[in-house]
Amino acid sequence: MIHNNIKSAKSLSGEIIPPPDKSISHRAVIISCLSEGRSIIRNFLRAEDPVRTLDAFRHMGIDVEDNGKDIITHGKGLNGLKEPQNIIDCGNSGTTMRLLSGVLAGQSFPATLTGDASLMRRPMQRAISPLSEMGALITSKKGGYPPLHIKPGELKPIHYKSPLASAQVKSSILLAGLYCHGVTSVTEPEKSRDHTERMLKTVGVNIEIKGLTVSITGKARLNPLDITIPGDFSSAAFFIVAGTIVYNSNVVIKNVGINPTRTGLIDILKRMGADIRFENTREVSGEPVADIYIKSVHLTGIELGGNEILRALDEFPILCIAASVASGTTKIRGARELRVKESDRIASMARALKKMNVDVEELEDGIIIKGAQRLWATSVNSYGDHRVAMALTIAGLVSQGEMNIENTECINTSFPEFFDTLNKLRT
Ligand code: S3P
Repeated sequence: MIHNNIKSAKSLSGEIIPPPDKSISHRAVIISCLSEGRSIIRNFLRAEDPVRTLDAFRHMGIDVEDNGKDIITHGKGLNGLKEPQNIIDCGNSGTTMRLLSGVLAGQSFPATLTGDASLMRRPMQRAISPLSEMGALITSKKGGYPPLHIKPGELKPIHYKSPLASAQVKSSILLAGLYCHGVTSVTEPEKSRDHTERMLKTVGVNIEIKGLTVSITGKARLNPLDITIPGDFSSAAFFIVAGTIVYNSNVVIKNVGINPTRTGLIDILKRMGADIRFENTREVSGEPVADIYIKSVHLTGIELGGNEILRALDEFPILCIAASVASGTTKIRGARELRVKESDRIASMARALKKMNVDVEELEDGIIIKGAQRLWATSVNSYGDHRVAMALTIAGLVSQGEMNIENTECINTSFPEFFDTLNKLRT
């Protein structure tokens, strides 16, 4: 097991570029491989999770070239995939498993999806239920856990009222909708990230968005994709918070995707008093992008929940670190979904913060953190969760002494250059 010792930082200064967006990288692979012809994916994230998705399509007979710079796929259309010779291993990636389920439901061959120990504990019923309603034939372990066995079935369109705001569930249904005659729709209780809808539109699929409902017309022919993937906001988030909480810092993060379904952290940090601004806002391949300028300030605790935390759900671990050094109390509610991410993120963060001598109370759907001036440097565990590992590393920058973060290899699932990027900013 790999561990890292992190010394506190005097200040952070300089300019960095975050890794390419993970969510968009998965979708670029899937949509390009279902299109007809040669697609080009620029700035693809070469990290474990999206590479799982890419390998899955290689195993289903799609030619993929990697020239070291761009990824080029040679899609053969919606029905151009062939039966994989082996079980498809999704590794740690929930996005790979849930989105591929939607694609596989529409194929004329069977396939099995499996994953690592963490993924085997994650709920898949949320995707299995709507796909089964569409006619998919999916069996799983009792309770809706992987492995998933998907047999060929005849799909029909449905209008699904989702009990969850989940981009993975929504995307799974939309991808299965490609294989249906007619219009399939999904209505969510709140709007989840919309990268799938944006990308399907760019390849010519008829997608309609009305409020919280997305509709797709199936059996379309997908044009090849030509995409430049923006930097990942969720990876930039660690340095947005680091630049804010490390004394005397001045950080610039270039080329960051600022899709409004993802940027809740900015609104939250601004309410806590942060000095963050977007510059050079532009659109790249149908997604909004900006450079982000951050100056350090002293934060103040706040109460938050509802749509605000939903737009920052993946940023919960790093938000906990911001709250831990803020004055006053921060209370986060409405985040029950965190219990079923790569780890139980509420429990993982509460345990680590307690070890750092932070006054913290775990709630069923959130956390209460009483801010402290300095964190105790100690030994903490990521529980194999990449976002917990990176958040605890940033905590090490504002702790007294040297922090030891155990189990950091998981960072490779989303941000292989995380430590190099951090070292660039140390003064
Ligand atoms: C993702 C959707 C979110 C997010 C995950 C990536 C995606 O999950 O937490 O990290 O790429 O669609 P849910 O769909 O479960 O909310």
